[in-house]
Amino acid sequence: MTSPIIRSAGTPVRAGLGSWPTPLEPAPRLASALGLDPEDLWIKRDDLIGLGGGGNKVRKLEWTAGTALAEGADVLVTSGAAQSNHARLTAAAGARLGVDVVLVLTGESAPTGNIALDTLLGATVHWCGDVSDAELAARVQDVAGELAAQGRRPAVIPFGGSNALGASGYRTAGEELLEQDPSVQQVVVAVGSGGTMAGLVASLGAGRVLGVDTGAMPEPGPAVAGMVAELTGQPADAATLRIDGSVLGSGYGSVTDAVLEAMRLAARTEGLVLDPTYTARAMAGLVRAARQGELVRGRRVVFWHTGGLPGLLGHTTALERIMAG
Ligand SMILES: Cc1ncc(COP(=O)(O)O)c(C=O)c1O
Repeated sequence: MTSPIIRSAGTPVRAGLGSWPTPLEPAPRLASALGLDPEDLWIKRDDLIGLGGGGNKVRKLEWTAGTALAEGADVLVTSGAAQSNHARLTAAAGARLGVDVVLVLTGESAPTGNIALDTLLGATVHWCGDVSDAELAARVQDVAGELAAQGRRPAVIPFGGSNALGASGYRTAGEELLEQDPSVQQVVVAVGSGGTMAGLVASLGAGRVLGVDTGAMPEPGPAVAGMVAELTGQPADAATLRIDGSVLGSGYGSVTDAVLEAMRLAARTEGLVLDPTYTARAMAGLVRAARQGELVRGRRVVFWHTGGLPGLLGHTTALERIMAG
């Protein structure tokens, strides 16, 4: 008997959820502040993807949600941290595509940031409290099983939207960037569940992609390599991936001095708002690379802005530290 829970293993189908390409903008004042030439640093604005407040997860959901719906799903189930951008954008994708969304989240409800948007966008939220990754995954299966028992057709979208199907959205994104600027030498991007980096490595090559670990997973390298191998059909060695784990601080969501400095620098040189969990950490990695001489004048680097602004508005510690000056 086939499982009533849809696993999106069939022919990939892309649902239209964004307007492409996203802008590629110069960041001359930030480049100069980092000792680069003004034209060396550009920002890929995936924060400006229109759906649901924008962000990288939309590119993955075009494939994961599109395929699930084509296979007959009538409800999307996914999981994440309380302030998950992926959860918020799954809620937005469900609204746009006309299917229900059930979110299984760690932590507790609060009237802030992504959590408020999840409700605004019409999702049903199951709160799990402080549970391990394995417990959260088990809760997702329970919820999907209950929905199937009620006669629904649930599709489980993986944590962070990261499997090879979701990551294929970032393989396309890498190709989109090369069409906008074939001279790109280096891309810097946050690594959470790894699908974004995996897709970019599949299209740009491991040497051009610097991933900055945000601590969302204990060890992202093997997960990224696994998705790269699936996307390219070639073996991929985690050791060839460039993942900077040096700006992790005390872990996921921690607000380090480097994170705060990156937020202020981007905001005050370019009017660019970063979130403390993902994009500011990636920018801190870029700042570090520039200061260590890994980014050199005349070689174009692209900072991939993956969104996350609602997460800043749900991060009390970060907001307090910003206000403290
Ligand atoms: C704003 C933002 N940037 C980057 C990432 C990392 O993307 P990935 O999970 O594909 O590694 C996430 C993941 O949650 C995110 O929300």
